[in-house]
Amino acid sequence: MQSGIKILHRCLIPTKIAKPTPNYQTQTLLPMVELSRLRVGVFLGGMSSEREVSLASGRQVYSHLDRSKYEVKAIFLDQEGRLWDIPQKLVVQNTTADIFVRLDKEARRIPYEALKEEIDFAFIALHGKYGDDGTIQGLLELLAIPYTGSGVLASALCMDKPMAHLLLNTSGVATAREIVVHDYQWAKDQVAVRERIQNAIGLPCVIKPSREGSSVGVSVVKNLDEIGPALEEAFRWDTSALVEEKIPGLEFSCIVLGNQELTPMPPTETVATHEYLTYDDKYMPGRSQKITPARVPPETLRHIQEEVMKAYRILGLVNYGRIDGFLLDGGKVLITDPNTSSGMAPSSFMFHQAAEIGLTASQIFDRIIELALEAHQAKRGPL
Ligand SMILES: Nc1ncnc2c1ncn2[C@@H]1O[C@H](COP(=O)(O)OP(=O)(O)OP(=O)(O)O)[C@@H](O)[C@H]1O
Ligand SMILES: [Mg+2]
Repeated sequence: MQSGIKILHRCLIPTKIAKPTPNYQTQTLLPMVELSRLRVGVFLGGMSSEREVSLASGRQVYSHLDRSKYEVKAIFLDQEGRLWDIPQKLVVQNTTADIFVRLDKEARRIPYEALKEEIDFAFIALHGKYGDDGTIQGLLELLAIPYTGSGVLASALCMDKPMAHLLLNTSGVATAREIVVHDYQWAKDQVAVRERIQNAIGLPCVIKPSREGSSVGVSVVKNLDEIGPALEEAFRWDTSALVEEKIPGLEFSCIVLGNQELTPMPPTETVATHEYLTYDDKYMPGRSQKITPARVPPETLRHIQEEVMKAYRILGLVNYGRIDGFLLDGGKVLITDPNTSSGMAPSSFMFHQAAEIGLTASQIFDRIIELALEAHQAKRGPL
């Protein structure tokens, strides 16, 4: 008995712990790319409030990827988190619900672990939670499939506006005055929360879920009675809400491309027909105006691009991203919304800005794929 214990003891405590060597495989794709077309899976749909926007984005990527360079598959992420290879006749459906009901008969299910056999590269046209928030990126890292957009941390950070703002502020990039309200704080003491908003931010203010996109759950609050409904709306989407001062100024959106060397695109000015850009303003034709480049002097455009690039670097974005903010009357730039992906429906910021510098949709997708491959080939561990 005693000798048995001794043996066990010896097995459990090795005398020497092997020294680690960096053995993370970089995702070497170049030989394959040369031999055959890169097999690209365009991820679309998803589990977030922005799944219809993603369908429009994914459809645009699917139709414009150059077939002489890529073998393209549409990979639909359904609301239960399952992946499907969907045929073109499903890609062109109107809504994700229309696709969902036809999956069993007309699509082919792909278990996560089989994904690597199907594609060499993921073009992520998903938006929002489980889309550009680090979760799908984590899955692709485990499967060793390179993908578009930023890595796990930057994606998660940009989805969480208060966390992104905290990092920007401590690094010298200006954001709006803000506080965070948690659902449990509101449930416990509504009077105290109202007071805190009044004292720290004042009215008018903007209340939004900490993590959402496409203006989902966003409200502009002009009087005290509107605070409650605005918070309740934000809490439908997340457990915490961001309360920001309402910024008066010119709203802009600026796409950046690049890993170490950055190329900022010409910033777009957005003109809302309401007090702020709502979901419908963003996606319904004629509801808002996009003017590229923004109608400001060249040096101001340059200043916006510089602040945007600072934010891009601080938050650790790679490949491409879209940073939104406001230009105040005095020329100061406030960053409100860093995004690791951007809508890719035909009339999105990306194509307005690409057109200004003479790039077609196919060319910008090529550039995004090249930069993504470069980032994944250089990484050590997850991106
Ligand atoms: N602090 C603010 N002051 C004034 N307007 C604001 C403010 N915050 C947000 N808005 C308005 O609300 C819209 C949506 O807010 P925000 O950009 O923060 O959210 P989002 O849902 O992440 O948007 P996107 O889909 O563009 O990434 C903005 O486009 C802007 O018009
Ligand atoms: Mg956003």
